[in-house]
Amino acid sequence: MVEKIQVANFAAFTLEVDQVKVDALRPAAEAAAETLEKGTGEGNDFLGWLHLPSSIGEAELADIEATAAQLRNSCEYVVTIGIGGSYLGAKAVIEALSSSFDAYQGGKCKVLFAGNNIGEDYIAELMDLLKGKKFGIVVISKSGTTTEPAIAFRLLKDMLEKQEGKQEAAKRIVAITDAKKGALRSLATQEGYKTYVIPDNVGGRFSVLTPVGLLPIAVAGFDIKALVAGAVEIENDDNENVFTYAQTRNALYQSGKKIEILVNFCPRLHYFAEWWKQLYGESEGKDHLGIFPASVDFTTDLHSMGQWIQDGERTIFETVLSVGDQSHSVVIPHDEANLDGLNFLAGKRVDEVNKMAELGTRLAHVDGGVPNLLITIPALSEKYLGQLIYFFEKACGVSGYMLGVNPFNQPGVEAYKKNMFALLNKPGYEAESKAIQEKLKK
Ligand code: PA5
Repeated sequence: MVEKIQVANFAAFTLEVDQVKVDALRPAAEAAAETLEKGTGEGNDFLGWLHLPSSIGEAELADIEATAAQLRNSCEYVVTIGIGGSYLGAKAVIEALSSSFDAYQGGKCKVLFAGNNIGEDYIAELMDLLKGKKFGIVVISKSGTTTEPAIAFRLLKDMLEKQEGKQEAAKRIVAITDAKKGALRSLATQEGYKTYVIPDNVGGRFSVLTPVGLLPIAVAGFDIKALVAGAVEIENDDNENVFTYAQTRNALYQSGKKIEILVNFCPRLHYFAEWWKQLYGESEGKDHLGIFPASVDFTTDLHSMGQWIQDGERTIFETVLSVGDQSHSVVIPHDEANLDGLNFLAGKRVDEVNKMAELGTRLAHVDGGVPNLLITIPALSEKYLGQLIYFFEKACGVSGYMLGVNPFNQPGVEAYKKNMFALLNKPGYEAESKAIQEKLKK
């Protein structure tokens, strides 16, 4: 049975899990929230995000908007260079608010992304597109030393300087990085770029409401004041929704549900799920613990992953991100011949069909043994995305502490880097290089 347990201003949840087990976790959730608030837990030097929304000043937002306007007015394209937390938040919000066909519609400055992979064709094709075009660069790296964005920046900076001259190029480059440390900070100082700071106490995956996310979102033409205002609303809210989500997912994890699938029925939310996966994956997946965060886009993936979810191994639960109102209304027409047999849908909005697909799927999956949480936002707007971002961040901190891990570090991401640098003979990695060569011989 699907039981509705809570309705709040932006989020309502339903689930099928033993409510007693969920309720039993309330003290743990409250203790975790207190640990966060008092800053007494592990990783407490990375809690800058906790009261970030309410601490962003009008002047800071106005400055970001002015820089964004300058880039928009002087560029056909602005390439945002960054990876992980220096990429996904901006990408998620821009995709959620943009037309699905924005790339094919002319008229305004387009935000493109680079440095989030090392695909040679990707960067080559981007450079082809930018050839002879007016473009700018927002380069984002907290450490200022991450390889993927550093390669993309070296290539695109060189191209921009050749196209526009060094002086003009410098006016079209904005760097977002640490206040003092890192190669990007030194380079920006030397070249005289406009810069923004990523606060020391805000980790990459919690940085979307700093200039890291706000500048690209503003360049794309969206209202960052409304985004921040939405986040402030949830920062000032009670923790009821946060507790419901954190308690439920931890109760499910304890009962053997090791995989959480974030489900959307709205194609624009694809990258929001990518942002969420990084937030939860990097925060919780450590010490051989943690729910594996996965995502699907329905109804598209009902025709691929639907079978597995309905009938596969029962180690999963779903969290459905449901959007109330669509931005458009499209009504299915009546067809006299009715050769496709669709007249039973004539006069209905496409979204009405989608909503029935959503409800039907949730009911089917619960019947199939897949517990289901529902998070509803009234519409895809800056305000509600701001609410959702802060809600997920807070719930992630609470959930991680409940699990017993430090949600704010990511020691595991260094392992591949060490091997890659050793394989590429980076100075300082001679011992690792030798060890790998030995391993590969076996
Ligand atoms: O969340 C994190 O800390 C990481 O995903 C980083 O954001 C990512 O590795 C990029 O790091 P940086 O911003 O230092 O280039």
